[in-house]
Amino acid sequence: MNKITITTPDDWHIHVRSGQLLKTVISHTAKRFKRAIIMPNLNPPVTTVSQALQYRDEILHALPKTSDFNPLMTLYLTDTTSVKDIHEAAESEHVHGFKLYPSGATTNSQSGISQLEKTYPLLETMQKLAIPLLIHGEVTDSDIDIFDREKVFIERHLTTIIQKFPALRIVLEHITTKEAVHFIQTQPQHVAATITPQHLMFNRNAFLVGGIKPHHYCLPIIKREIHRQALIAAATSGNPKFFLGTDSAPHLKHHKESSCGCAGCFSAHAAIEFYAEIFERAGALSKLEGFASHYGADFYQLPRNTSTLSLVKENWDIPSAYPSDEHEIIPLNAGQHCTWKII
Ligand code: DOR
Ligand code: ZN
Repeated sequence: MNKITITTPDDWHIHVRSGQLLKTVISHTAKRFKRAIIMPNLNPPVTTVSQALQYRDEILHALPKTSDFNPLMTLYLTDTTSVKDIHEAAESEHVHGFKLYPSGATTNSQSGISQLEKTYPLLETMQKLAIPLLIHGEVTDSDIDIFDREKVFIERHLTTIIQKFPALRIVLEHITTKEAVHFIQTQPQHVAATITPQHLMFNRNAFLVGGIKPHHYCLPIIKREIHRQALIAAATSGNPKFFLGTDSAPHLKHHKESSCGCAGCFSAHAAIEFYAEIFERAGALSKLEGFASHYGADFYQLPRNTSTLSLVKENWDIPSAYPSDEHEIIPLNAGQHCTWKII
């Protein structure tokens, strides 16, 4: 197949930052996606509806006037989030979920939850008001190996949360393991997961063999091949519990290429093209539209987009860097070619 046309996709998990970095990255997403769930892990985090609306305005101002991109906002759950905050969020047409970061799990997660049990009254309210909980599902206990953090989170915490709040709508974000795939498959329909392009394209050899590759470092960390295969099977299965969330997470080059480099892959420059490559290689291009354009909207109880996006089979070169003021960001697969192109 040399051309595909799908309902315009949405990105159900992305970091677009603020200030100059936002201006550098946002048009890449707006060119490909109609909507995106915007992560709230700014510094300081986005914790209230008024902060989310202010952030949404900043995003809209960073876009060309002609853009019809719609940023869907989320709030950052902290130890001081109140039941009132949840009510306000549920009443806002622009806020679509709360993001739970275990404290210390990833970039700007220092304001995250220190003890999950403390959030239970909040989860109770979210369940009642039908507002989704988006979870960075990794434990942060220092005795747990970084490659096991997702699996242990599911065993120790997610299972209990689902038992206690059986109607709570949950997205386990950026899943990376066969255990997570299996877990999601066995849960009710309102427990779903997003999958990133990097976890579908790479196993841990990609960043550890032949020299360390900091631009392939993200959290949760990329795992073994057996997990990548399970993720591909899930994404291309046509099961609506699995949908697109790039987790595109730009950092300046010097913050990645450092003795203590930041976690995050910037994939917004070619996100839907990467997914098209992955689905084509799996012989499942016909399943791309559901994963990229239908299931996420259905989960969030939003209408599916009515416009379309076409991609053609055509090579183009991914730049080696994108300038951002006097700095640069390095895109995923920098300097390589991409085999699908958006029209
Ligand atoms: O690799 C990641 N980068 N994982 C996350 O969970 C956060 C993100 C970021 O904000 O940089
Ligand atoms: Zn993320």
